[in-house]
Amino acid sequence: MRFTEYDYQDEHGVDGVAAMDGVWDAHWRGREGLKEDLSDEPLWATIRDELDRPGRLLEAGCGTGQWVQFLGTLGHDVVGVDYAASGLEVGRAHNANLELVQADFRQLPFDDETFDYIVSFGAVEHDVNGPEGALQEFRRVLRPDGKLMCSVPCLNLYRKLALPLLVAQRWLKCRKTVRRLWGKTAPFAFHQYVWSPEEYTAVLARCGFRVRHVRGYGNGIRSPLARYCDRALGRIVPLSSVHMMMAICERSK
Ligand SMILES: C[S@@+](CC[C@H](N)C(=O)[O-])C[C@H]1O[C@@H](n2cnc3c(N)ncnc32)[C@H](O)[C@@H]1O
Repeated sequence: MRFTEYDYQDEHGVDGVAAMDGVWDAHWRGREGLKEDLSDEPLWATIRDELDRPGRLLEAGCGTGQWVQFLGTLGHDVVGVDYAASGLEVGRAHNANLELVQADFRQLPFDDETFDYIVSFGAVEHDVNGPEGALQEFRRVLRPDGKLMCSVPCLNLYRKLALPLLVAQRWLKCRKTVRRLWGKTAPFAFHQYVWSPEEYTAVLARCGFRVRHVRGYGNGIRSPLARYCDRALGRIVPLSSVHMMMAICERSK
């Protein structure tokens, strides 16, 4: 099932693509520095073993470029692409040697079959038109034996149970009158799709990828007892609580 977590278009008639670029630009503006060592990030455990030989690597939607820097220190030849200029400026100010390109990842400025690896973390779900434009472009620039590692939010068990509440919350957040009560005058401008693992696998297949694994990360559960219960539940319902899911894919023939 594909669930649009936030959709502001109907209410405001805003151009969703341009609006999201503005949201990210504001998100990164004024930040400073990059975290050097990302090996303790839960995301890293989902892709670490897939990067088995040094190669030409693209990060699509790199933000400030923290992963571009980290993956470069591991011997990969990395380029990061993002359409939000402010994030790239943060990265360049911290490390002038990073290869950071301002571009829309649905129209990448690279030749066909350029990359051994493409990684993208929590980026393709923000396109109001769906992720297909990005995924087809990733396939174009990926070498035939290359790997795509692409994460999106997961419609997990808890989100499924809370679906009526999430739908109501979305509806309220998009109403002009409700926003005015909270003192907000600008249109609500954030969009994100959430998929079940099955739906996400099907979307990737339609775009020319064969999914080898879907791994979850980031459920934010801290207490040891809650973690134990969550692991037990996860054995019965895979990816029951994870916020994000990482698909490890190869190009289908
Ligand atoms: C959740 S952030 C991820 C940042 C980075 N990967 C990290 O983990 O630090 C998603 C990024 O994707 C970028 N993005 C979303 N859609 C894009 C598009 N069509 N073209 C280029 N960048 C895009 C946003 O500007 C944002 O910086």
